[in-house]
Amino acid sequence: MRFKVRGKEEMASNLKRWYTLMKFKTIEWKKEGVRILDQRRLPQEVRYIDCKDASSVAGAIRTLAIRGAPAIGVAAAMGIALAARKIRSHRPDVFRKNLEGAFQEIRQARPTAVNLFWALDRMKRILDQDLALSVDDLKGRLEAEALKIFEEDLKVNQKIGEHGKNLIQDGDRILTHCNAGGLATAGYGTALGVLYAAWSEGKRFRVFVDETRPLLQGARLTAWELMQEKIPVTLITDNMAPWVMKKVGINLVLVGADRIARNGDTANKIGTYGLAISSKWHGIPFYVAAPTSTVDLDLANGLGIPIEERDPAEVTHVQGKQIAPMGIKTFNPAFDITPQFFIKAIITEKGIIRKPFLRHLKRIKAG
Ligand code: MRU
Repeated sequence: MRFKVRGKEEMASNLKRWYTLMKFKTIEWKKEGVRILDQRRLPQEVRYIDCKDASSVAGAIRTLAIRGAPAIGVAAAMGIALAARKIRSHRPDVFRKNLEGAFQEIRQARPTAVNLFWALDRMKRILDQDLALSVDDLKGRLEAEALKIFEEDLKVNQKIGEHGKNLIQDGDRILTHCNAGGLATAGYGTALGVLYAAWSEGKRFRVFVDETRPLLQGARLTAWELMQEKIPVTLITDNMAPWVMKKVGINLVLVGADRIARNGDTANKIGTYGLAISSKWHGIPFYVAAPTSTVDLDLANGLGIPIEERDPAEVTHVQGKQIAPMGIKTFNPAFDITPQFFIKAIITEKGIIRKPFLRHLKRIKAG
């Protein structure tokens, strides 16, 4: 799937073409409900699930059937629109009251990716905007807002790609972690979006991907996604990364983000922090690609970012098979915080943000 990007109009039509040609759809708004590509089954099986109510959308987020910060945001918004559609009452006060449960359930699905709360806040604003609206109008507006969040994410990702592609040179060896691709967003991707944009321009490079224990998003998802696009990819285990940097010679590390504090400290998949330290040691530029919706100006630094801790079985088992002794104590944080010190720049839809992050992140969030 290759096409060059030039003017604004061309960009929009390329985006449409990209979405149509995409070999998978991460999430779709359907008559039957919210259709989600079940990422727990990839790459063995490409199977879609139809979530018919807000509880099943919350469940899909909680169990990582859909995952990745921007995709979680889109799912949350669609979950609310779906809950709204199901309410029978024509009284706006009853309608608003009945929706509260859906907001609460989805809000509690996962704690780290700020996009989930950002999307729910947008949906809440629609609900509170005009108290004189009828229930039918409210339903229509909530659905329109969820679709807007979806479409905006596609556009934002392509812009991230356009800004970031200039950082990639022909012949580069690029390391990435977890999955920040079309599967983690409405489509196209953030970190992988940068790679798709550079590849479309004719740049040729190789991607090294960490398997990303414990849930193997790198091995199962990123490897699969890049292979679909015929981009050369080499899979390594997480503990190989520093040696690959030294021995193979990585030119650039590129990851996504779940939440970025206003000083630039970044929460991303567990293992990202170690990669950043190792990149610094080897003099390799470390880039984060993320939409501005991932920036949380309320937090002064990374210390305030809630880190999700997940089921011990993810550590004691590999793909359902127990590998550790029964009764072993475990620790399973799903994310870590990379201090801004290690980050060379943050690639957003509004441009490449360099240091001092505090000043520039505030500026782009305001604009
Ligand atoms: O637990 P996950 O799979 O939701 O974690 C995802 C990540 O850490 C991604 O790198 C991040 O959400 C960026 S996605 C564009």
